Amino acid sequence: MMLNLPRSYAKLWAIFVWGLGIISLANPITKPKVGSRSQTSYTPVAFGLGTAPVIDSLQPYSGTSVTLDSSTPVLTLDYAADVAGFPYFEVTSLTGSATQIELKYSEQFNGLNLDSGDGPWLYTNGLSNSFRTETFNITIPGTTESFFIQGAQRWQTVELLSNTSITISNIGFRASVEINPPDTLVGGFCASNDVYDGLWSLGARAVQASCVEADSQPSTWEISGDGALIRGQYPGTSALGMKYGDYTMSFSTKITRGGTGWRVAAGPNAGYGAYFVLTSNGPQYLSTDNATVPSDSLIATYGFSIVNFYLSSAPPLYYANPFPILDDEWYRVSTTITPSGYNISVNDTQFALVPYTTFLPYVNAGFGGSELITTGSWGFGPFQDQVAYVKDVEVIGQNGTMLYTNSFTSTDILAEYLVASNAYAVCLDGAKRDREVWIGDFAHTAKELAVSTGRYDFIESMIEFTFAGQFTSGPAAGIVPMQDSMGSAPEYQSVYYPSQYGETDYELFFLLTLGDYYTLTSNASFLSKYWNGTKLLVDAMLTYIDPSTGLLANPSASWFTAQGQQNATAPTALFATSLQQLAIVASALQDLTTAAHYTALSANLSTAINTQLWNPTLGAYSTALANGVREGYTSVLAAAFTIRAGIANSSQATSAVQALDALFYLIGYKDSSAVGNSATTQLSPNVQGFLLESLFLAYTQLNVTAEVVVPVLHNLLDVYWPQMLNQNEYFTGASWEYFVSSVGSAPTYVLTNYILGVRRELDGDTGEYGWVFDPVLEIAEGLGLTWVYGNVPLYGGGWIEASWAIENGTVTSSMDVNDAEGVKVDVRIPSHL
Ligand SMILES: *[C@@H]1O[C@H](CO)[C@@H](O)[C@H](O)[C@H]1NC(C)=O
Ligand SMILES: *[C@@H]1O[C@H](CO)[C@@H](O)[C@H](O)[C@H]1NC(C)=O
Ligand SMILES: *[C@@H]1O[C@H](CO)[C@@H](O)[C@H](O)[C@H]1NC(C)=O
Ligand SMILES: *[C@@H]1O[C@H](CO)[C@@H](O)[C@H](O)[C@H]1NC(C)=O
Ligand SMILES: *[C@@H]1O[C@H](CO)[C@@H](O)[C@H](O)[C@H]1NC(C)=O
Ligand SMILES: *[C@@H]1O[C@H](CO)[C@@H](O)[C@H](O)[C@H]1NC(C)=O
Ligand SMILES: *[C@@H]1O[C@H](CO)[C@@H](O)[C@H](O)[C@H]1NC(C)=O
Ligand SMILES: *[C@@H]1O[C@H](CO)[C@@H](O)[C@H](O)[C@H]1NC(C)=O
Ligand SMILES: *[C@@H]1O[C@H](CO)[C@@H](O)[C@H](O)[C@H]1NC(C)=O
Ligand SMILES: *[C@@H]1O[C@H](CO)[C@@H](O)[C@H](O)[C@H]1NC(C)=O
Ligand SMILES: *[C@@H]1O[C@H](CO)[C@@H](O)[C@H](O)[C@H]1NC(C)=O
Ligand SMILES: *[C@@H]1O[C@H](CO)[C@@H](O)[C@H](O)[C@H]1NC(C)=O
Repeated sequence: MMLNLPRSYAKLWAIFVWGLGIISLANPITKPKVGSRSQTSYTPVAFGLGTAPVIDSLQPYSGTSVTLDSSTPVLTLDYAADVAGFPYFEVTSLTGSATQIELKYSEQFNGLNLDSGDGPWLYTNGLSNSFRTETFNITIPGTTESFFIQGAQRWQTVELLSNTSITISNIGFRASVEINPPDTLVGGFCASNDVYDGLWSLGARAVQASCVEADSQPSTWEISGDGALIRGQYPGTSALGMKYGDYTMSFSTKITRGGTGWRVAAGPNAGYGAYFVLTSNGPQYLSTDNATVPSDSLIATYGFSIVNFYLSSAPPLYYANPFPILDDEWYRVSTTITPSGYNISVNDTQFALVPYTTFLPYVNAGFGGSELITTGSWGFGPFQDQVAYVKDVEVIGQNGTMLYTNSFTSTDILAEYLVASNAYAVCLDGAKRDREVWIGDFAHTAKELAVSTGRYDFIESMIEFTFAGQFTSGPAAGIVPMQDSMGSAPEYQSVYYPSQYGETDYELFFLLTLGDYYTLTSNASFLSKYWNGTKLLVDAMLTYIDPSTGLLANPSASWFTAQGQQNATAPTALFATSLQQLAIVASALQDLTTAAHYTALSANLSTAINTQLWNPTLGAYSTALANGVREGYTSVLAAAFTIRAGIANSSQATSAVQALDALFYLIGYKDSSAVGNSATTQLSPNVQGFLLESLFLAYTQLNVTAEVVVPVLHNLLDVYWPQMLNQNEYFTGASWEYFVSSVGSAPTYVLTNYILGVRRELDGDTGEYGWVFDPVLEIAEGLGLTWVYGNVPLYGGGWIEASWAIENGTVTSSMDVNDAEGVKVDVRIPSHL
């Protein structure tokens, strides 16, 4: 039977219509492309005027001219969902000689009510604005574009700060990523339950916002003949100075607005260390917090920055400048790391001897080393809304040896300071912060890309990027970057080891992704280029197996998937799954010795877990061994990964899924039963995403009944994830990043793979992966679905279009392959339930 269902998913957004006028998503307007940089713009769909941000009674926006004055100083703009890019606005008229306006950004509406928006994000540079507010001083009509990217926001305000009036039109963002509405993507999903369509779309938008094309995120430093022009941002730190200490670092600087900023004794973890800001006596913006950033002063702190966000820095120390520092004048600033403090002078006059006393409690081995107060590199970055030139940097050791010298007039320095334009197409853990390339989070992202945008090339680029940073020799041989910066370069990797390699199991997630890539594409030829590197990484992971337990345990390793515990179930089971998948790759590459080895290793890991970590009292796998004994706690990933690896048998899987009840708190599942219940208990979408997929595997591969898995799926799909959809003030059209530590949009691929039912499966006879159309109808029915329709992108182009419906126990379905030759799909759908 032909199903009369829409080709487009127009209804997808119906559930997101609130208030007046919000009737469509921010519409991309495409202009001709120039170079590799996009010319697409995102414009608001609705606006409101008032004395404060407004969420209700917004009016439709279409380039509308809006006048701000002292009675209505705040313009609120709603883009309907997360967009990203360079903010711009056109001023058509203004009164007075100069008008100051402050632009503010936030993903959630509430961020607009905070002084700093939903930021700042002062932890890494991220090739974006580190701040979520930016002030402009407008003197003539015309269009202004910010120098910096704002990485993800649904909401914006424009606030008039001066006692003038200004008329603004054509406000928006010049795109830094291409984000298209879900109904225009190659992949799509539409079901008889609108909420599921919305959940699918969260991942489709999140991957578009956080996967960036090569060279699309420009450097945040501008190199000129007068040195580097550096606008207020999180400082970039040199990769070349981590080992030096007790030196004098000097540079020439010319402030063009507000102040200049620099570091010494900065560590490999994003430059955590001493930070100084020298402000001028020039004009300050009305938005400047004069208490935190007084003019004509030296401000000294230790940590990330002079203001706190979710990680704290030492309370800043303030010193009045002994002579006025002027804008647009050159000065020579030097900082000597002495036994008693940082000795700072400007043009040979001492400005401060900053004592270490109040900084010492903030020395953090996790962010650098215990000697960080006097040892570490140097860096540059003025504070918010400031702008300064920096040139002729010189570092001289205690014994008078010149350690470093650079004129700062060549773009060669950008990667050294972590601020080079991104050379590779990569996926960030989140579009807004911290904008690093976390390879663990990518395990979900890769599968979301495959079912939504079909951008398999991003997966390939991520694999290429990650292997480019692999250590091929030395003590870390085999290890790949797990928390890389877009702005760095492979030649500097060793500087960041081990500081930026804190989660050992992210290496396992990368192995998993290599196997997932093969599952999705069957392209052994692509993986053959990295097969030597893959084997070297597996070998590196094998060194972490404790010989007495056969489990992953090593004092130098840390396991994210087991809350840092050793001899734990989840990371060991994750390794087992990775090895099973890589054994299939090995066979495809005719490396049969390796295939057999990986299969045997995986079997041993499985045995080690079952003999030591199955806990009959809990009816679940213990999270880990404690003092050699299985402990009394269990965790979501202990269940999810033993199921995915097939380590759990049918009765263990059944019992482990039932035992998840103990982890349910309010609306979702806690990572572990050792975590208490409180207002700050985190319910991770990343972790629950792995659980979501494993429940379908428990049913399809381990014979766990629908009665057992459906209640848990119901909690995840009908209770937990819909929180991201059904609250207007928090809705962003993408999965939440500000609420928890990592992106988690697993419903996107799980709904396509198991509810629509189109996925890749291994044919046990041929050893090849192929497409199946095999919806898990009993579960779909258990979740109350009566029909599903969707498209699934194919590697190499084209898509599979499929649908099914159940009425009175009769199943109807259709399946087509579009725009592709020779793609076989094994249709396994029954005609009756
Ligand atoms: C704002 O400017 C108007 C005239 O343009 C003046 O009458 C008023 O006193 C000013 N208000 C403040 C707070 O400066
Ligand atoms: C704003 O621009 C005007 C005109 O150029 C200038 O006089 C004023 O100092 C500027 N204000 C700030 C805070 O930069
Ligand atoms: C900060 O100082 C400047 C001039 O020194 C002033 O115009 C501005 O209003 C002050 N800002 C605040 C928030 O007090
Ligand atoms: C500070 O030193 C620079 C040279 O580094 C010189 O050009 C400038 O005139 C000096 N400024 C003052 C106020 O002495
Ligand atoms: C700090 O530098 C000044 C010169 O600017 C010098 O006179 C003083 O001795 C130095 N102090 C220390 C503790 O090194
Ligand atoms: C001076 O110090 C540097 C760096 O610590 C060292 O490499 C060099 O050998 C030293 N030179 C002398 C002459 O002691
Ligand atoms: C598989 O990977 C190889 C090597 O990168 C590439 O040349 C080829 O085009 C890929 N195959 C497909 C179908 O894209
Ligand atoms: C793998 O081989 C490639 C090409 O020969 C080489 O560039 C790369 O460094 C090798 N990787 C390892 C881990 O040995
Ligand atoms: C698996 O475990 C057995 C028994 O402990 C051992 O003999 C064998 O070498 C192990 N296999 C691998 C590949 O480590
Ligand atoms: C793993 O467990 C074994 C057996 O209890 C113990 O000897 C070993 O120290 C543990 N490893 C770590 C890193 O805690
Ligand atoms: C699931 O049931 C099928 C059919 O009864 C059986 O062949 C298979 O071995 C079972 N699988 C497991 C893991 O128990
Ligand atoms: C399903 O059952 C209902 C009620 O018994 C009936 O009205 C409807 O026509 C049936 N649909 C089909 C496709 O048989």
